[in-house]
This record gives sequence, C-alpha cells and structure tokens, in this order.
Amino acid sequence: MTDFLQRFESHLRAALGDPRHAEREPAVLLEASNHLATAGSAKRMRPLLVNHFGAAVDLHPLYRLCIATAAELIHTASLLHDDVIDEGTERRGRPTANARWNNSVAVLSGDLVLCIALEQLYELPRTVTTTAIELVAEMTRSAMLEVQARRARRWDLDDWHAIARGKTGALLAWCGRAPALAKNESDLARSFADCGHHLGLAFQITDDLIDVMSTDTGKNRFADLRQANPSFLIAAARQRDDQLCRDIDAWWDGDGEADELHRLARAVASSEAPRVAVNAVDDHLAAALDALGEFANHPNGRQIVGWVEQLRSIAHGALTSALPKRSHA
Ligand code: IPE
Ligand code: MG
Repeated sequence: MTDFLQRFESHLRAALGDPRHAEREPAVLLEASNHLATAGSAKRMRPLLVNHFGAAVDLHPLYRLCIATAAELIHTASLLHDDVIDEGTERRGRPTANARWNNSVAVLSGDLVLCIALEQLYELPRTVTTTAIELVAEMTRSAMLEVQARRARRWDLDDWHAIARGKTGALLAWCGRAPALAKNESDLARSFADCGHHLGLAFQITDDLIDVMSTDTGKNRFADLRQANPSFLIAAARQRDDQLCRDIDAWWDGDGEADELHRLARAVASSEAPRVAVNAVDDHLAAALDALGEFANHPNGRQIVGWVEQLRSIAHGALTSALPKRSHA
C-alpha cells in the first residue's frame, strides 16, 4: 500500500471514529457506516485521484487527506443510498447495509456519512465546500433520473449521458476541482475537473460494457439488461438496431423469460454497440489526457496516465471476451 493510502485509511477511520460522533450518534449507524466505508476491497480511486491532483498544486498533505476523505465518504453515502434504491444485496464482497440491517439503517447511515464527509472541509476555502454541496445535489438529481429512466424502461444515449455525468463524472470531476480550488488555482480547477469528468465517463462506459461482455457467471450477470438500467452499451445497441430495440422493449414489458435474456445479451454483444462503446471510452480517455496537459509528465500525473492505459486495456479486452458472438443468428 502506498504511503498516502496508509495515511488515508487511518484518517478515514479517525473521521468515522471521532469521539464526538461516538457520544451522540446511534451506534448502529456508525457500525453500518464503517461496515461499508472500511471494506477492504474498496479501490480508493477517488482518494488517490485527490492525492495526485493535490500533488500537482502542492497542496498540504493534511488538506489532501481531508478532501480525499470527503470524496470517499460522499461516494460511500451514495452507495448506501443506491443499494436501498436498487435493493442491492452485496457490495464490496459484503452484504449491503440494507441487507445486513434494514433500509432505515442504510438511509440514515448514508445521511450521517454525508455529514461526516462535509465536516472534513471546515478548514478549507469556502469554494471547496460550496462545490461539494453542488456535487451532492447533482448526484441526487442523477440518481432520480436513473430511477425514472428504469421505471419508464425507455432511455437513449442522451438520457444515459445525463445520468452518467451526475452519477460517476461529477464526483471524479470534484476530485480534480477541489484540490486546485483549495490553492485558489481556478484555471487548473477547470482542467482537472475536466480530466476527472472524462475519466468518470470512460469508467462508467467500461462498467456498462463489462455487465454484458463479462465472462464470469455470477448471479448478477446482465443486471443492466434485466433491470432496464440505463447502460451505454444497451443504449447504443438500441439506437443502431431497430429489431433488437423492439425485442428488448418486448422483454422489458413482458414476463422476462431467462432464455430470452441470454439471447438478447448475446445479440447486444454481437452488435456494433461494443465497438461503439470502446470508441467512446477511447475518446473520453483522450480528452482526459488532453485535460491533464503538462501534468502528465509529473510523477503523480504519470499515475493518472497509468490508469488511463489500464482502463483502455480493460475496455479493449472486453471486446474479445468469450461470449459467443453469433449465437443469436
Ligand atoms: C462504483 O464505484 C460505482 C460506479 C460509479 C461504477 P467503484 O468501482 O469505484 O467502487 P469501489 O469504491 O471501488 O467499491
Ligand atoms: Mg445502482
């Protein structure tokens, strides 16, 4: 584990274990918050991003930790709430808070985690806090858009884009924006936010790609197709193939036979959509690198370039997955 991540883990635990909270807050809410926030399989992508961008503006290490903790806890709160909305049962290899306790505990611990996140920003310039509050509002709007899209079971690439911007792009953008704002670097705040935004969209498209193209046979396979979750890949397939679009609509409106779900997944996988998705990933990654500018040559910037390369290879790798390509013919 890197030096930063070690300090991050203890800062995060200290924030959640602050005696002021332990005295006042219901123990079960703190327990549920810790259950998700300190799960070992969390990738800590947002805190790492904050550290890299913080290094670019030479932000004091303590402030990097505060912003990183705020970002990770805003993410944690959104996951606690998301798992209630989605009735998710497993997250980061553990039962979700709603499954382990109940919806009330999950919702209220999400609220508590959000407060602890914002407390981290007390010592930082006001713009860091105001942008964090705007971020939470944006994430909330997009979560609602996603719920509505899934209920309506009709959405296209524009809907997908509006949702993904708020769901994934906005927080990664803030991970670039906040460290620069903390040093009053407003031009860099714009570029780094842009970089985070494009990384976020590339990440989300890759996630959508893996849902259909992945070869693992977990029970949640094809969750996006099954639940009519807005997905880049499915939106692209629907846009490019009218017959497939009608078949997907019929499945969403009907009783949902499992055999037909697998046939549709194979049809999406063998359509032009995966190639369109990988091209979109490439475009967002190119835009992310462009926004990095000279910082790409800085040691921390090179770490972000490394992520770009990783994400690109995961997306391209999904294209050559083992799903039979022609079995719907
Ligand atoms: C998951 O985020 C939610 C998405 C926006 C796809 P991560 O994949 O970063 O989840 P953790 O934090 O590593 O668990
Ligand atoms: Mg979800």
